Amino acid sequence: MTAEKPSFSAPKGTRDLLPPESWTFQRIARTGMDLFAQAGYAPVDTPLFEHTEVFERGVGATSEVVGKQMYTFIDKGDRSLTLRPELTASVMRAVLEHRLDRGPLPVKLACVGPMFRQERPQKGRYRQFWQIDVEAIGTDSPLADAEVIELATRFYAEIGLPVQMLLNSIGHPGPDCRGAYTQTLVTFLRSHEGRLAPEDVDRIDTNPMRTFDSKAETTIAVMKDAPVITDHLCGACAEHYASVKSLLDALEIVYTEDPRLVRGLDYYTRTAFEFLAGNLGSQSAAGGGGRYDGLAETLGGPHVPGIGFALGLDRILLSLGEAREVTPVRAYVVALGQGAEVEALKLATKLRRAGIGTELDLMVRSMKGQMKDASRSGARYAVILGDDELVAGEATIKDLESGEQERVGFDAIEGRVSE
Ligand code: HAM
Repeated sequence: MTAEKPSFSAPKGTRDLLPPESWTFQRIARTGMDLFAQAGYAPVDTPLFEHTEVFERGVGATSEVVGKQMYTFIDKGDRSLTLRPELTASVMRAVLEHRLDRGPLPVKLACVGPMFRQERPQKGRYRQFWQIDVEAIGTDSPLADAEVIELATRFYAEIGLPVQMLLNSIGHPGPDCRGAYTQTLVTFLRSHEGRLAPEDVDRIDTNPMRTFDSKAETTIAVMKDAPVITDHLCGACAEHYASVKSLLDALEIVYTEDPRLVRGLDYYTRTAFEFLAGNLGSQSAAGGGGRYDGLAETLGGPHVPGIGFALGLDRILLSLGEAREVTPVRAYVVALGQGAEVEALKLATKLRRAGIGTELDLMVRSMKGQMKDASRSGARYAVILGDDELVAGEATIKDLESGEQERVGFDAIEGRVSE
């Protein structure tokens, strides 16, 4: 061992997931994947990198994610590749490539994994971060919207994180819907150009709806009076939105309508939603999603509508705070004396084979050291093997919560620690 300072640290904006936080991470990811599987969402995995065009076309060139945040590189075969900044475009690429859209619909998929965006790091904002992503592809029925939103809200409830859900419909890009609205919005923005922040003026022609997301105070003041999309939806989109809301009401799901909610990725159509959690500062979105009925076509495929969401695991962990994690370790075998060591190893193995989480000392510690390590392990019971006990074919079991201890025969250990 050396006292020297290590020469490397993780790259800026990335972090190591270490225990005990990593326990919570695993538990939350498993809770989500199990909950989604229970509604028929199958696990899926796609490559961590894709051809850059998948994101340029799928996520959209005017989005900040594509314009400013992608980790794009040229590989040794002169191909432009990009570390995935999000999963929806990748999942749709996979669905189209493998023609899943021609099989039973909808295609319901869920994935957990890291995403990469070169953003300015701050609390809750990383360059590598984890999402659980859920997609229902091949239907534009409002039932699908209600189903995925219900799953997301139930996930937060199950892990014990209170969230506020914002809901909106951003229509479709046609001239009778978002097209006409965008012109109205551009006219409004032009007439207030002098009061907008310079970066928002730049966005008027490329992505005017993103002005609603501006952090600049002067722009925020202007946007209070801006026309909103929900007043300009076409008949079909308005009807779709009304159906989604009535289904959510039928499920007693609480939401706040926010006609100013716009999402950062260009593929969204109709339903858009976001989940806000406490104590996250400015990065309060702990998840979000929406419909993307035009995405398959922008990737060169047929018309395949879809809806989904992604949960931001890093922000969820931060928002949950420092809750003490329960490890799967139930018993800790303490060995006193050389003869007991091999018996301790055998006993720990036997308990593990019986499905009981068990640790034992691997550092040849003293009795006191082992008891201390037993509490560190999170075990409920210390199973103590000393010379006396070995001769009698027994062990002392100490309940680490109540402090009570008793001697039991070897055969009774398994039953006792699994109580
Ligand atoms: P998104 O809103 O870009 O949507 O990301 C979803 C969530 O990922 C955010 O609400 C946030 O919790 C988390 N997140 C995003 N960027 C970062 C970051 N730099 N650091 C930490 N957490 C972050 C999507 O990605 C869409 N693909 C969701 C979707 C699926 N829409 C339809 N299907």
